[in-house]
Amino acid sequence: MQFTIEVGRYNPQGTYDQSAVAGAPYPPPWDKAPPRRYQTYTVNLPEHAVVLDALIAIREYQDESVAVRCACRSAICGSCAMWVNGHSHLACKSKLSDFTKDGKTRVETPPSMPVIRDLVADMTPFWQKHLAVKPWLEGKKPAPPPMEEYRVPNAAMEELIQEVSCISCGCCLMDCESFAVNADFLGPHALAKAYRYAADPRDAQTKERLGEYSKPGGIWDCTHCYECVTQCPKGVAPLEQILKLRRMAVDAGFTNNAGTRHADAFAESVKHSGRLNELTLLPKSVGFFNIVGQLKTLPSAFNMIRAGKLPPIIHKSIPGVQRIKNIFSRVGGRFK
Ligand code: SF4
Ligand code: SF4
Ligand code: FES
Repeated sequence: MQFTIEVGRYNPQGTYDQSAVAGAPYPPPWDKAPPRRYQTYTVNLPEHAVVLDALIAIREYQDESVAVRCACRSAICGSCAMWVNGHSHLACKSKLSDFTKDGKTRVETPPSMPVIRDLVADMTPFWQKHLAVKPWLEGKKPAPPPMEEYRVPNAAMEELIQEVSCISCGCCLMDCESFAVNADFLGPHALAKAYRYAADPRDAQTKERLGEYSKPGGIWDCTHCYECVTQCPKGVAPLEQILKLRRMAVDAGFTNNAGTRHADAFAESVKHSGRLNELTLLPKSVGFFNIVGQLKTLPSAFNMIRAGKLPPIIHKSIPGVQRIKNIFSRVGGRFK
């Protein structure tokens, strides 16, 4: 079967084959990423071939200058993560025939990551975030006697299987919308790892971890875009782990932050009137006595007014709001 592949080429010297067509600049927030040149190759491969098969065939038999990173070819090592048709995937797990659109497949490094060359992204930001969450256990004391192990219930470890499945490929971070606009955000992979250690019954520093993860750039900076859930090739669902960390952090008393205030303001408004009071949401999230923080929100407020999105000054309850209140009291918990 014949497949056409458009390979996003980049090298710092800016030397390209004549056939490499200049790509359009990436749209915001990736407009600082260097535009790629796209070089088209045709390969003959079996119907079941994956994207990585095509890239290896190109490198081996047509153009040895194409740089691509891979190792296991079995969706285990995580090294072949790249953009395939504009979203992050493992090239060795992406069937070419499924990804052929208008007769071709486009591959490139994601513009959210620095690029080293062609299809090889610089994963330094990914590994920095990984290390920032302390991805190791701080064993509880006293340690087990020599030749013995910490004993934990099976159920506690089963709870962590989903996060342990992570292969550190970076697909989630590459497509994370919050990371795209905030380089300081710890990101989905690191926070899923963070949950794996914070929730491990053998760890002695759960509370300290939750305090760290609650700071700006941590669990509250996720915007629930679900990209990490959609793109993870191993079903880790990082957003779900972030939500678990948020519950753990609130239960541990880490509530003096914009994220918890935002969630509280949201829930209180819906509980009392049946809908969201957008006029008070932002000031309550920032904190009424946080003057500097309040001043920083002014440009957003002016932008909303300019765009004609000023919420109603008088916030009215919806008819039958008592039913909403009943739901809150039935669910119970923090907002009862
Ligand atoms: S859900 Fe949150 S962590 Fe996941 S990709 Fe979106 S912003 Fe990033
Ligand atoms: S959470 Fe999934 S997408 Fe993210 S690094 Fe781990 S395996 Fe890859
Ligand atoms: S080559 Fe190892 S995950 Fe694709």
